Amino acid sequence: MYATATLTFPTPQFRLNPHPFSITFPGISKTFSSTIFSSPHELYLSHVPSRALRVSASSQPSSPASTETSKLSSVPSQMKAWVYGEYGAVDVLKLESNVSVPEVKDDQVLIKVAAAALNPVDFKRRLGKFKATDSPLPTVPGYDVAGVVVKVGSEVKELKVGDEVYGDIHEKALDGPKQFGSLAEYTAVEEKLVALKPKNIDFAQAAALPLAIETAYEGLERTGFSAGKSILVLNGAGGVGSLVIQLAKHVFGASRVAATASTGKLEFLKSLGVDLAIDYTKENFEDLPEKFDVVYDAIGQCDRAVKAIKEGGSVVALTGAVTPPGFRFVVTSNGEVLKKLNPYLESGKVKPIIDPKGPFPFSQVVEAFSYIETNRAVGKVVIHPIP
Ligand SMILES: NC(=O)c1ccc[n+]([C@@H]2O[C@H](COP(=O)([O-])OP(=O)(O)OC[C@H]3O[C@@H](n4cnc5c(N)ncnc54)[C@H](OP(=O)(O)O)[C@@H]3O)[C@@H](O)[C@H]2O)c1
Repeated sequence: MYATATLTFPTPQFRLNPHPFSITFPGISKTFSSTIFSSPHELYLSHVPSRALRVSASSQPSSPASTETSKLSSVPSQMKAWVYGEYGAVDVLKLESNVSVPEVKDDQVLIKVAAAALNPVDFKRRLGKFKATDSPLPTVPGYDVAGVVVKVGSEVKELKVGDEVYGDIHEKALDGPKQFGSLAEYTAVEEKLVALKPKNIDFAQAAALPLAIETAYEGLERTGFSAGKSILVLNGAGGVGSLVIQLAKHVFGASRVAATASTGKLEFLKSLGVDLAIDYTKENFEDLPEKFDVVYDAIGQCDRAVKAIKEGGSVVALTGAVTPPGFRFVVTSNGEVLKKLNPYLESGKVKPIIDPKGPFPFSQVVEAFSYIETNRAVGKVVIHPIP
């Protein structure tokens, strides 16, 4: 059974160790394994909980996935969810408490959401930029989810009730995303789009990964990136770029990794393994004598990026106009990519990065949207806890 209780403890003692760090309450302690890093200007902490600590306990029921029905009674028919019924600025977002819990299709699981994360696509979609291919309004936004499986469809093969999973719930980011996203107490998603959560990371950290890490990985694959190649990442501090750097270095075996950010984020880039941190407020990367096998453009500077590649090099772009030989793609959600990368996450070689302004509690989704829309976030804007 999956049970939760909210316990309030006296003010915690913080011990910064610094990797991992632990927070100790009288009689209970919680260790946070990663995503703490410091810069000359500020200390980034990814997991500073409020004094109310949510405690979850789960055990794995033995029912086979295809016959699972016993938990139906514990899933309510209505839930709290963030919803917008018209396209527009953040003020279209409303917290509703009587949204229908989505039905699971045969190939889907229902997840009790523990944490979610925002991506720029969430606010671009809310602004109506993808109207032509969007699902009908009203919409529950949210792509990234981490949580616990509470119900499985009849064709679900591997997952079972009680599994802790994470994933990007929309297979195609722009083309018919689901009407019911992850900024809700429950969300339904195809089994093939999620993976078991790495054991060493918590739900907030897991939610920081799916769309960004799958984008990072798919872009690197599409350029044919391989060991010994060099790469320049434009926007190395953002959600995608911070993972491109880590994957290029620790999964693909890059010979050299360069990345751009503003002055205050150069130390952060170095903490991710960057060999050359370029301050875009002081230097034009395309004017540097060094050229790269690949430029990964996560900001929309493809016209400049093509000037920074070696003869025969590639430019992959996530946004903005494309200049040949650069090319653009839109991520496809794929649980297999998460499964493939889980060993790197479990070994700590690749770390989720949560922006230090978060995690934002579920009640502060509007504040979280306003923040990601500043285009200044470091790593991911995470929503946690979701009651
Ligand atoms: N095609 C796809 O499938 C796909 C998938 C994911 C994302 N995307 C798109 O890719 C873009 C990046 O996404 P994201 O989630 O990584 O964004 P993000 O996390 O919101 O990026 C924020 C970061 O951008 C940096 N930044 C702003 N201007 C910059 C500049 N001129 N040069 C270098 N860095 C700059 C900021 O650092 P400073 O404060 O230092 O400027 C900040 O840390 C978005 O447009 C998103 O929509 C596309």
